[in-house]
Amino acid sequence: MTDIAEETPEQAGGETGAAIEALYLEERRFDPPPSFREQALVTDRSLYEQAEADWVGFWEAQARELDWFEPWEKALEWELPFAKWFVGGKLNVSHNCLDRHVAAGLGSRIAYYFEGEPGDRRTITYADLLADVQRFANVLQSLGVRRGDRVGIYMPMIPELPVAMLACARIGAAHSVVFGGFSPDALRDRMNDAEARVLVTADGGWRRGSVVHLKGNVDAALTEAPCVEHVVVVRRTGDEGGGPAPMVPGRDHWWHELMAAAEPSCDAAHLDSEELLYLLYTSGTTAKPKGIMHTTGGYLTHVASTHRYVFDLHPERDVYWCAADIGWVTGHSYIVYGPLANGATSVLYEGTPDFPDKDRWWSIIERYGVTTLYCAPTAIRTFMKWGSEYPGRHDLSSLKLLGSVGEPINPEAWMWYQEHIGGGRCPVVDTWWQTETGGIMISPLPGVTTCKPGSATFALPGIGAEVVDDAGRPVERGGGYLTLTRPWPGMLRGIYGDPERYRDTYWSRFEGRYFAGDGAKVDDDGYLWLLGRVDDVMNVSGHRVSTAEVESALVDHPAVAEAAVVGARDDTTGQAVVAFVTLKSGEEKSTERGEALRGHVAARIGPIARPKAVIFTDELPKTRSGKIMRRLLKDVADGRDLGDTTTLADPAVVEEIRKLAETRATEE
Ligand code: WT7
Repeated sequence: MTDIAEETPEQAGGETGAAIEALYLEERRFDPPPSFREQALVTDRSLYEQAEADWVGFWEAQARELDWFEPWEKALEWELPFAKWFVGGKLNVSHNCLDRHVAAGLGSRIAYYFEGEPGDRRTITYADLLADVQRFANVLQSLGVRRGDRVGIYMPMIPELPVAMLACARIGAAHSVVFGGFSPDALRDRMNDAEARVLVTADGGWRRGSVVHLKGNVDAALTEAPCVEHVVVVRRTGDEGGGPAPMVPGRDHWWHELMAAAEPSCDAAHLDSEELLYLLYTSGTTAKPKGIMHTTGGYLTHVASTHRYVFDLHPERDVYWCAADIGWVTGHSYIVYGPLANGATSVLYEGTPDFPDKDRWWSIIERYGVTTLYCAPTAIRTFMKWGSEYPGRHDLSSLKLLGSVGEPINPEAWMWYQEHIGGGRCPVVDTWWQTETGGIMISPLPGVTTCKPGSATFALPGIGAEVVDDAGRPVERGGGYLTLTRPWPGMLRGIYGDPERYRDTYWSRFEGRYFAGDGAKVDDDGYLWLLGRVDDVMNVSGHRVSTAEVESALVDHPAVAEAAVVGARDDTTGQAVVAFVTLKSGEEKSTERGEALRGHVAARIGPIARPKAVIFTDELPKTRSGKIMRRLLKDVADGRDLGDTTTLADPAVVEEIRKLAETRATEE
């Protein structure tokens, strides 16, 4: 347990400091493969040049690819930090994603190949989707939802989820999707903050062969969320897993019953470009998640344009698969809005990659002839661990392009992905962005950019990104903080209900710049290497988890006096949550207690936040001013192979923490 683990290159990929040295050892270069370039949408620097000459004009040209009911009067109104894009323009997102394709004769094109985890399959065309969206828009209206209201969505990865989102967009209601892995408490807080009037859910969803009882969680959440007047429940798991939670009369309604009774047509509302499209809650450096606001015209422009160019989309022939969950921003932008705006055919898969066996993803790629796969490095590292025999069992020759997102991709994972999944013929695009940016910001253009494994390369056309030092001075070569130098169309418009927090969090650290919270390095060729968060935010399997949120969940347990949480290096998940806990006097430190605390955090926030290890310590190292020294704890956590269990720190380690704490505290 106390072995100091050697730093492997895999570990180094996700970390700052020594990590960059390992990255610099990576000297391989990959030009766009000639066979790829021959068919690529963009093969020269023309887009970069257009954007450099006139970046606002570049985005206007992208916006013109959409259907507008009324043109904009002004492309950008920028009163730092508040931006408005395409001011005065009117459009509708669901019209752009559905009606215009059907009107263009593409109604029979497949929008989604849906595959449920148990193996059930559905093919949904653009015409099917449009019909369902109109009906559900009428359902929402019949439940009292009006333009400007918020609708909560808490669903598994089933086609009804994009239907619900698009139906909101159709009538000008904003959705707030809560990932199905979040706990009742997390759902309750999000519903209350958004003041959602209606919540759309399902009885359950399938996960690794078991039923996840979403409706049960909804019932628990709504005991303390009086704003929600109605709940619409999709029947997904039915009588399986003990059957659905009982329906509450007057509040709960079955989706299929309301849909059968609904009028079939509903015109798309003419909405302002700056109409709120959705809220998506994300973790920050405090215990309270932030409701990130995204609006209509700029957001759709950004996600449609980046989806087309980064994934070299040929909608008439490609089968695109983003394997994220729609509950995260990746799914909002690159499963729902970007692909549908572009008339793409996508795969939608409900379950886990290892059910019934570890080759599930590869069987899906083979079955549908997937050309483009977009996933997180955590998944890739997991597949590496499982071994190349699983992809080896399937014909993956339809693949043309591979994408990565969510966390730094270490060069080894990049190489494995390129070789074992891409067969050496597919470009790999590492895409950097955030919930707040709405869409991809830093990424290769696959027909243009020479890639270096592990680097997200350069800012996309129209995007201004710069690495700066502590004082905000641009760093030509070397490490620093990643900032964005100008507004972009998909940018967050604020934090719901808290404009000051918006300004403080993103726009106050460096004057006139958006600070992303990430460290980055510029190499000798000007390539950007993302190095992970520099704030108290962890990245577990490509998902953001706040140290403060986990700490607050821990101290809310009656036995806990104090807690400090750090993200420790983890070979598979990038970072793992490690909690240092001081118990109240008289409380017993035991393995069972550690287990209970891990479970407590999972119940409070969701399984994603469950600590991998709980280390009991009699005191936490603090500075004289009482600030917990997380950096020190992180070093301790990184130096240990913690295993996937609760651990009691051995006295030597605790002693060491104390000693180190004392020395550091006197230094400061
Ligand atoms: C944070 C944003 C973007 C959708 C998924 C996560 C990290 C994201 C990369 C990448 C290195 C990355 C950053 C960022 N991140 N993509 N390609 N290379 N780091 O969205 O939950 O808003 O998290 O994820 O640290 O700040 P999110």
